[in-house]
Amino acid sequence: MTPSPAGDDGSESPGVDPEGLVASAVDRLAMITTLTALDELQTDLLGKRSALARAHQGLVALDPGERPEAGRRLNEARRQIESHLAVARRALELDERSTRLEADRLDLTELIGPALRGRLHVVQRTRDELEDVFVGMGFRVAEGPEAETDWYNFEALNMPPAHPARGMWDTLYLEVGEPETVMLRTHTSPVQVRLMESQGPPIYAVMPGKCYRRDTPDARHIPTFHQIEGLVVDRGISFADLAGTIETFTTAYFGADIHSRLRPSYFPFTEPSAEYEITCTICKGSGCRTCSQTGWIELGGCGMVDPAVFAAVGLDAEEWTGFAFGFGIDRCAQMRHEIPDMRVFFDNDVRVLRQI
Ligand code: PHE
Repeated sequence: MTPSPAGDDGSESPGVDPEGLVASAVDRLAMITTLTALDELQTDLLGKRSALARAHQGLVALDPGERPEAGRRLNEARRQIESHLAVARRALELDERSTRLEADRLDLTELIGPALRGRLHVVQRTRDELEDVFVGMGFRVAEGPEAETDWYNFEALNMPPAHPARGMWDTLYLEVGEPETVMLRTHTSPVQVRLMESQGPPIYAVMPGKCYRRDTPDARHIPTFHQIEGLVVDRGISFADLAGTIETFTTAYFGADIHSRLRPSYFPFTEPSAEYEITCTICKGSGCRTCSQTGWIELGGCGMVDPAVFAAVGLDAEEWTGFAFGFGIDRCAQMRHEIPDMRVFFDNDVRVLRQI
């Protein structure tokens, strides 16, 4: 090939040797160690200002007879450079990936140690511990469904349709049957009704399980939470039995320095009704931010079974008396482990969960 006039920038002849271009590309590629450098080299080798591109532009200056062969050699050189670049790119990508993987490496042998092997979630453990305490006190454990009908969740609990007390529970309804007839249970109290229907007194039972409310999550509330319900139905049960049971449970579960108190309250299915509060575990009753300086934390509600509930399940309220209580398992876990914000239970951050 005869040398041709210089290109526009006057720096290089378009008559370069295409095979030489390939050889020099291969040499330069051998020096490349990062994808960024590879991108730069690719522009250098194949871009508009590359020797190859200028050689292409220079073809017009050649004898018409020489053009096809010169063009073919340039195309072949481009094809080869492209394929060398692709091979190098693939190798670098693999390299960078393994470097990244190496940096993100987790030592799994550590996880196989006792700290995390088959560990139960703190809420599940709390539920098991609560069951154990109540079983030790002579209670049996029962369960009910999470999807409930209006009858069990409200009506049999002395809340007829449109009863204002239904507003105490922000309900998530399911699209099953007639509107607002089937819902995710807002508390475990419907299991009281199921138990009284399915077995006669005497009843000494606790009923743990998941409940749902249309609540905005905050430090002490989560829309999907857990409760444990208690129900005692027998002859001659009094409010003193309720208070004694609650106090016995409280010291058994939280320790001898934590006590319970009952404050007058209202629930449609108990009469009289009370809030169940325990000594704040964080300040041991002296007052702190978590308990709003009161020294007490509310765990749930309780009271004597309302005669209207006995009537709904066909029990004679003259013969039978009983008490019921229901409180949050998550709240219990929070108090027991002195956790300021309940949401950490469900963020599933292993660094937090392994500590509790
Ligand atoms: N079910 C009530 C609630 O979720 C608590 C409760 C249970 C109150 C049993 C009285 C008796 O708020």
